[in-house]
Amino acid sequence: ESTAVVIVGAGPAGLTLGNLLLRAGVECVVLERRGRAYVEERQRAGVLDHAGAQIFEEWGLADGVLAGVPGDGGLEIRVDGEPRFLDFAELSGGRTGRLIPQQMLVRRLIGSFEEGGGDLRFDAAEVALHGLDGDAPWVSYRDAEGVVREIGCVYVAGCDGHHGVSRASVPAGALTTYSHDHGIGWLTVLADVPPPRRPLMAVASEGFAAHFPRGPMASRFYLQCAPEDGVGDWGEERIWAQLRARLGDSGLPAGRITEMAVVEMRSFVVDPMRFGRLFLVGDAAHIVTPMGGKGMNLAIGDADVLARALRAAVREGDGEGLAAYSAVCLRRVWNYQEFSRWLTEMTHDAGDVRVAGEFRRQLARARLDRLFSSGVAARAFADLVAGG
Ligand code: APR
Repeated sequence: ESTAVVIVGAGPAGLTLGNLLLRAGVECVVLERRGRAYVEERQRAGVLDHAGAQIFEEWGLADGVLAGVPGDGGLEIRVDGEPRFLDFAELSGGRTGRLIPQQMLVRRLIGSFEEGGGDLRFDAAEVALHGLDGDAPWVSYRDAEGVVREIGCVYVAGCDGHHGVSRASVPAGALTTYSHDHGIGWLTVLADVPPPRRPLMAVASEGFAAHFPRGPMASRFYLQCAPEDGVGDWGEERIWAQLRARLGDSGLPAGRITEMAVVEMRSFVVDPMRFGRLFLVGDAAHIVTPMGGKGMNLAIGDADVLARALRAAVREGDGEGLAAYSAVCLRRVWNYQEFSRWLTEMTHDAGDVRVAGEFRRQLARARLDRLFSSGVAARAFADLVAGG
């Protein structure tokens, strides 16, 4: 069998790309290693930025995918228990994002892809990419019944995340990789606690903490921890005590914890995001820390650039968009890496003095203060939150 584009991976990147290609009239097949239930229930990101929401608007998918999803009105930054607010709608001229739990977005993207006649195959094992540097690549896999299948194609979109097969299929030396360890630890806790009125980040002498909504009944918390800490170092009592202290909220209820993990505060970029007929999209090409909430948005942004380029190449024989794909995406990737690093440094240096020392603590507090005393600084921040 054959198709124009094989998409490897059905996370936010692969599902967005699949939907856009369907709209663009470009034939594709999506191969996902995991089962449907796993993909639909995986909880991760929660904010679609304004630029991401615009992509769904422009492709005519917003009604189906974003129906009933609340807007992202702003951010509270609580410094030593003192509340301070940034109103993104006002600061960005109405360019607000949407608060959508990733699994809701994923479920809706799967629904719209399948309703539109899209070909999505779960439980695809042993996916392997062949002939990427020639002009007739093919992808093999073992289907849910155990039968080995081959799909010939014109292009392959590697949307299979940081540990996927796509980037690993590129010969050593063809890609330059950049990586950075931010030197801090984060513990993330998903719990049945009513969401905060608006997303909240807290800076306190005990360290950084954050409280974000995940739908109407749940919250995601982040707690700065020692870089070497594991989940076992954090009992429930310590978690709630530290959250209450850092958030300055002694009344925070302790809800049932449904997920707990240590987040690697690491950044990663490959350049170029392409090898021959393979295009890397989303986490397969880059990782940003969760700080700033840009990981899912980068994946969606890459998918948009690639879908436009593939439409031009497949339907009009115009390869210019594909030639520019990597450079166009990497410009945004580095811009968001810088944003995430800036925000990480400011909110962590300003808190626990043991992290960066007293001098850098004062610098970070000056940066924070500037956000609330300079309209220009606040608007620059809101502009990055809106994305582009
Ligand atoms: N074969 C087929 N599918 C694979 C393979 C493989 N060898 N390896 C991984 N996959 C699938 C995974 O099971 C997963 O469903 O690819 C998908 C990759 O999805 P993500 O890891 O979510 O990556 P991406 O779609 O790029 O989304 C990136 O979304 O969750 C947010 O913030 C997060 O930055 C992240 C962003």
